[in-house]
Amino acid sequence: MAVTSIILNLVLLSITYSEGAKWTYKGPDGETNWSKNYPYCGGVFQSPIDFEPELLRYDHSLTQIELLHYNLSDKELLTLVNNGHSVQLSLPSRMSLSGLSHRYSAAQLHLHWGSQSLPAGSEHTINGKRFPAEMHVVHFNSDKYPNVSVAADRADGLAVLGVLIEVGRFNPAFDRFLTYIDGIKYKNQTVKIPAFNIRELLPDQLDEFYRYDGSLTTPPCYPSVLWTVFRTPISISHTQFLGLATTVYSSTVGDDSPVTLSGNYRRTQNPGDRTVLVNFQEGLHWVSLGVVISIVAVTLLALIFIVTLILYLLRKKSNERVQQRTKDVTHDAESAAHK
Ligand SMILES: *[C@@H]1O[C@H](CO)[C@@H](O)[C@H](O)[C@H]1NC(C)=O
Ligand SMILES: *[C@@H]1O[C@H](CO)[C@@H](O)[C@H](O)[C@H]1NC(C)=O
Ligand SMILES: *[C@@H]1O[C@H](CO)[C@@H](O)[C@H](O)[C@H]1NC(C)=O
Ligand SMILES: *[C@@H]1O[C@H](CO)[C@@H](O)[C@H](O)[C@H]1NC(C)=O
Repeated sequence: MAVTSIILNLVLLSITYSEGAKWTYKGPDGETNWSKNYPYCGGVFQSPIDFEPELLRYDHSLTQIELLHYNLSDKELLTLVNNGHSVQLSLPSRMSLSGLSHRYSAAQLHLHWGSQSLPAGSEHTINGKRFPAEMHVVHFNSDKYPNVSVAADRADGLAVLGVLIEVGRFNPAFDRFLTYIDGIKYKNQTVKIPAFNIRELLPDQLDEFYRYDGSLTTPPCYPSVLWTVFRTPISISHTQFLGLATTVYSSTVGDDSPVTLSGNYRRTQNPGDRTVLVNFQEGLHWVSLGVVISIVAVTLLALIFIVTLILYLLRKKSNERVQQRTKDVTHDAESAAHK
């Protein structure tokens, strides 16, 4: 691990790239061309990936993530920015993670989402399933680096929490910042908003997750991220999703034909020879549970059918017997009469 990390750092330091070159999700500067200006985007350890069953390895030693100082006071102000690629909320570095091999301090969180017509915009996918949206809470290794900019291109620099987002129940915590995005419709606009309990943006269940080595999902795509993607999604309402998918532009103020910021997710990347560690028994919960429920249901139906059939046959038999007996009696009577 240490050797890999040294090699990665050397690779990272030896490549230069044109910082600040334009990149987009659609059109000629789209993701297939990112690597022209940002070579790491065409390199190894890229994210996101699809969590397909063949990649997963159960690892019971994966320790739980603990969130420290996530409950922020509303007396504090946070900066919400439209950076042209996403909506991003700055986070104070006293918020941090424990349970990893270093202390990681928070820097920002941002979202990736689908569009009004296609509510599928998560970056990570679970066995091919793309969720409507995904949130990333970005942390940097504060044991070793002074801030996120310095840490971003170091092999052990970043730890990102990924949260998959479904459309369903209304999410009051999300409204704590979604209600302000009207004020950052255009690229580069910022607004100060009261802080809140960031823990409420995450799933109740943090104990089951996917863990793997990957990268930033946007240029410069540094392969510096230790990913933790929670298995349990969170939910936002359809109205909240539409707000996100239709309110902000990727264009700056004054642009004659502003482009709606949507579908801002990167396609899944080749996992190469990576594996994804999980701390739950894949299949046991969902697939097998489905199979068990199906088997139980089919067995019950079959039992009901068989019992019904037996009852019907028994009834038919006894009816026939009664008829037969009546017939026999008549027949006996007739025979007696003939004698
Ligand atoms: C990538 O860039 C080239 C040259 O600028 C362009 O011709 C091509 O269409 C771009 N690719 C995509 C997918 O837009
Ligand atoms: C978060 O902090 C506030 C005070 O700032 C407190 O009232 C609230 O109970 C805390 N919430 C949790 C879940 O600890
Ligand atoms: C990050 O730390 C470096 C080194 O201490 C410093 O030069 C740089 O200005 C800092 N960047 C930010 C954004 O604080
Ligand atoms: C957006 O903000 C950045 C950094 O503050 C600045 O360099 C850039 O010129 C701004 N772009 C526009 C179009 O205002």
